[in-house]
Amino acid sequence: MCGIVGYIGNKDAVSILLKGLQRLEYRGYDSAGIACIKKNSIQVYKTKGKVSDLKKIIAEDSMSSPIGIGHTRWATHGPPNQINAHPHFSGDGSLALIHNGIIENYSAIKSALESKGHKFVSETDTEVLVHLIEDIIRNEKISLFEAVRFALDEVIGAYAIIVMQKGKIDEFVAARKGSPLVIGIGRNEYYVASDATPIVEYTNNVIYLQDGHIARINKNENIEIKNIKNKNITPYIQELKLNIDAIEKGGFNHFMLKEIYEQPTSIQDTMRGRIDPVTKEIKLGGILEYQQKIANANRIIIVACGTSWHAGLIGEYIIEDFARIPVEVEYASEFRYRNPIINSNDIVLAISQSGETADTLAAISLAKEKGATILGVCNVVGSSIARLTHAGIYTHAGPEIGVASTKAFTTQVIVLILMALKISQKNGNLTLSDYHQLICELELIPSKVKEVLKINDRIKKIAFEFKDATNFLYLGRGYNFPVALEGALKLKEISYIHAEGYPAAEMKHGPIALIDDKMPTVVIATKKGNYEKVISNIQEVKARGGKIIAIINQGDEVVNDIVDYSIEIPNSPDELSPLLTNIPLQLLSYHIAVLRGCNVDQPRNLAKSVTVE
Ligand code: G6P
Repeated sequence: MCGIVGYIGNKDAVSILLKGLQRLEYRGYDSAGIACIKKNSIQVYKTKGKVSDLKKIIAEDSMSSPIGIGHTRWATHGPPNQINAHPHFSGDGSLALIHNGIIENYSAIKSALESKGHKFVSETDTEVLVHLIEDIIRNEKISLFEAVRFALDEVIGAYAIIVMQKGKIDEFVAARKGSPLVIGIGRNEYYVASDATPIVEYTNNVIYLQDGHIARINKNENIEIKNIKNKNITPYIQELKLNIDAIEKGGFNHFMLKEIYEQPTSIQDTMRGRIDPVTKEIKLGGILEYQQKIANANRIIIVACGTSWHAGLIGEYIIEDFARIPVEVEYASEFRYRNPIINSNDIVLAISQSGETADTLAAISLAKEKGATILGVCNVVGSSIARLTHAGIYTHAGPEIGVASTKAFTTQVIVLILMALKISQKNGNLTLSDYHQLICELELIPSKVKEVLKINDRIKKIAFEFKDATNFLYLGRGYNFPVALEGALKLKEISYIHAEGYPAAEMKHGPIALIDDKMPTVVIATKKGNYEKVISNIQEVKARGGKIIAIINQGDEVVNDIVDYSIEIPNSPDELSPLLTNIPLQLLSYHIAVLRGCNVDQPRNLAKSVTVE
């Protein structure tokens, strides 16, 4: 969580920082701040609220500077307010620091510093770190670069930081461990940010700072990088492959809507080059060396959080169904702390859009220690999870900015389907004709998703009818049970309506007690997969006066006649149906949230990249 950005060069840092912070706002948006060096003083502006609020303050008192750091916060230690907003300062005001992550042993460090006379104004762990650096500089009489390294050696936790020093107009220091940090290299200028989105319009040359590395960034010199043990590191400069259009709204009112509409293309991009056009053979270059091992595995453990966990559940169904390998799907946060049984024959598959989720990272570190083979399904290229895994498959969905995940989910499911088909071919659990049939159906999915998107207006009308509901139930069975969970999560996240996803048949063991004419139930009732049984569940809801919105296949008069509202989607094999049934649910949540006046792209209390546990 939290986005950090820094600039040093000959341009005006303030406007670059503000624009960068807006790009990083998906990472946290409860308070924001920037600090710049002007003459011989550090000027700071911070506020509770969004970057737009910060902009207003700065506009009133315009400032410019060739060096600065900025932060957009998702609160961990201390509530979101002006005092706890970053940047934080050393006691003597000579250092300003921004931080993404958590200093776990901050309390012990704070007590030690307090006993030496340090006084703290905020409740944050970050302020402790900047005081620690100040203390080291004062006692050891060393440079900021050295002092940061000494300080980080004492710190337990995760961080990406940038520290600036009064009087040093040409230089700042950045470091990372566990939280991402990218350095963009321009001509006599450098950009530093939590991801590449604030950098891409200025330069394509970047360094992804590695864990435990500290960089001295001076605008007149090459970057100097050391690790925590004082070893010099040669910077590895890479070319950034990110298109500026991909991070703009492109005519849509919200990133979420844009990303929903991108799904036909992003699904195509995920499949691109991975299915031979003639032989229909699946090629998954990223896991080539591990294919046989996966095919022979005793079990596959999927670890993930949030929406990615829902994709994992679909993965479980499809891998067990096709490849006949037992699959367990675990919340990463539970797995990492519950002493799980893992051995070297296990395949652990981490699914993560951002590739930075702290719990998922910790879960795979644990599994790696125990000797398992770790694979990743990530969207963000070069992310921490992508680097920590032995091998993996990128979703190639393009940047997902809306906090509520949409295209990342569908593309994760595509990757899992491709994987399941590949493994089932390898271990002989799927006949060639079934395989070919599924591949042909898979290739039709992008155009079917396009068709589903055409019913947006109808969904908007349904959204209007239900925008004031306070509770929603989502039901699905088999492959569409995880879709029900995901539909409910999406509604909760962005419209703040309480929603529960349930396996349709489980309704009678609890949620049925909630049903009345005020509680809408969304039922996924596609023709394949327990269709008759789902109809019985619909009847049970209807008998209790519940209002029903059903996702049905085109031309299904049976369900259409018994429900209050139906949303028709094209036919598909049951295994592929989540790719279609999920789309109307995304749109339904989107329209309800918009009608309720919610901030769709930045829902309260949430963040896109959860780099804290
Ligand atoms: C946050 C986001 C969700 C996402 C989850 C897991 O909660 O708001 O949209 O599903 O993190 O993130 P990951 O990047 O690991 O998929």
